[in-house]
Amino acid sequence: MKPLKVGLLGFGTVGSGVWKVLQRNQGEISRRAGREIIITHVAARAADGSLERARAECRGITVLDDAAKIVRDPEIDIVCELIGGTTIARTLVLDAIAHGKHVVTANKALLAHYGTEIFAAAHDKGVMVAFEAAVAGGIPIIKALREGLSANRIEWIAGIINGTSNFILSTMRETGAPFAEVLKEAQRLGYAEADPTFDVEGVDAAHKLTIMASIAFGIPMQFDKAYAEGITKLTREDIRYAEELGYRIKLLGITRRVEEQGIELRVHPTLIPVKRLIANVEGAMNAVLVKGDAVGPTLYYGAGAGSEPTASAVIADLVDVTRMHTADPEHRVPHLAFQPDRLSTIPILPISEVCTSYYLRLRVLDQPGVLADITRILADHAISIEAFLQKEATHGEEVDIIVLTHHAIEKNVRAALAKIEALPSVKGECALIRMEGLY
Ligand SMILES: NC(=O)c1ccc[n+]([C@@H]2O[C@H](COP(=O)([O-])OP(=O)(O)OC[C@H]3O[C@@H](n4cnc5c(N)ncnc54)[C@H](OP(=O)(O)O)[C@@H]3O)[C@@H](O)[C@H]2O)c1
Repeated sequence: MKPLKVGLLGFGTVGSGVWKVLQRNQGEISRRAGREIIITHVAARAADGSLERARAECRGITVLDDAAKIVRDPEIDIVCELIGGTTIARTLVLDAIAHGKHVVTANKALLAHYGTEIFAAAHDKGVMVAFEAAVAGGIPIIKALREGLSANRIEWIAGIINGTSNFILSTMRETGAPFAEVLKEAQRLGYAEADPTFDVEGVDAAHKLTIMASIAFGIPMQFDKAYAEGITKLTREDIRYAEELGYRIKLLGITRRVEEQGIELRVHPTLIPVKRLIANVEGAMNAVLVKGDAVGPTLYYGAGAGSEPTASAVIADLVDVTRMHTADPEHRVPHLAFQPDRLSTIPILPISEVCTSYYLRLRVLDQPGVLADITRILADHAISIEAFLQKEATHGEEVDIIVLTHHAIEKNVRAALAKIEALPSVKGECALIRMEGLY
């Protein structure tokens, strides 16, 4: 059989990894795919030196600085989009589909924003769009959700799906250094980008969570309804206090089906009991916990980023597309696992309606009666206390009080905090971090 021809768009971290791994493992990959997969064209850019690098590394193939030419080339079967972003990448992907090419992409931002449009275009044209690398890098979580767990009613997913944030939180805990200092170190080591906003503000994790929620629950992509809160406001004191209480703080992406009401879709720092496996996922590693009604909790762990780990997922998609290339389109696996006309209209719940437990840190004057005021306000808002910790006075006359709550509705907690912050004995803003037992 003739080899399947791939046009690679972008020769950066992931693009160059795909080239390398495909060359190295060509024999085995062909045996798995049933036919040879070859990269015949690469598009790269002069500005960052990738064009020159591609010309030096990719001998004997066409290397261009014009990606648009590649997506229209009748010779190409699969376009592999590894440029990133939501502008040029969107145009190129839609153009590739319009020209009847299958698409493989690692671009979570593109899918979270434009997935519905892209999948509809692919459906019309009868081509595949594969995106295993878009969520949790090298971990085959899309395949697990879409195929391995398809007998289950998925109840919830909770994942550490941003390596940069996890690296920063792990280092803050290990060294006791503050966020700003650790961020600089992460940038120096290459774990954080020069502009780290998407990573540390929870946006990147929300992109990935949006995709997983769609596949788990059969709902359209709704990134605009995701709640995203990053790690920039976390203090080293909160990390230490949480440890003293037996918890670890992680940036979690959580999506949960709340019967008859809707779907929670939220990214925020979360206290997790230290004894849970996922609490011990450290550094830049990723992990995703999925709870299915039949299988129970399952955990997927591995490298969520990096050149070759991400290439591993991209090439697995190339193999899938190659295997399915000649299959009857009606028997292909739908993009979101559910048939496009069978997506559910169940709503995404606003964060104010979420029900979970909370870690609250209040800085108060060390004087009688303060505690009574606080517990009364919490009780008035139907919030019961699970644990309570009062620290020594370390800020003059002020002390930190930490309250762990039982399950409460977020809007009640916010209303109670507004009243508590208005008390003359309470100083400044209270810290709120959500907690998840995860079983
Ligand atoms: N890095 C990871 O570990 C990882 C993991 C999972 C998913 N992803 C996703 O994979 C994608 C690629 O990420 P990456 O880390 O490989 O990014 P990267 O290192 O910045 O590589 C992207 C490359 O594409 C080039 N490019 C931009 N516009 C182009 C165009 N019109 N034609 C040809 N080349 C163009 C860029 O050049 P300029 O720099 O000059 O713009 C850059 O060399 C993103 O969607 C990312 O979210 C990455």
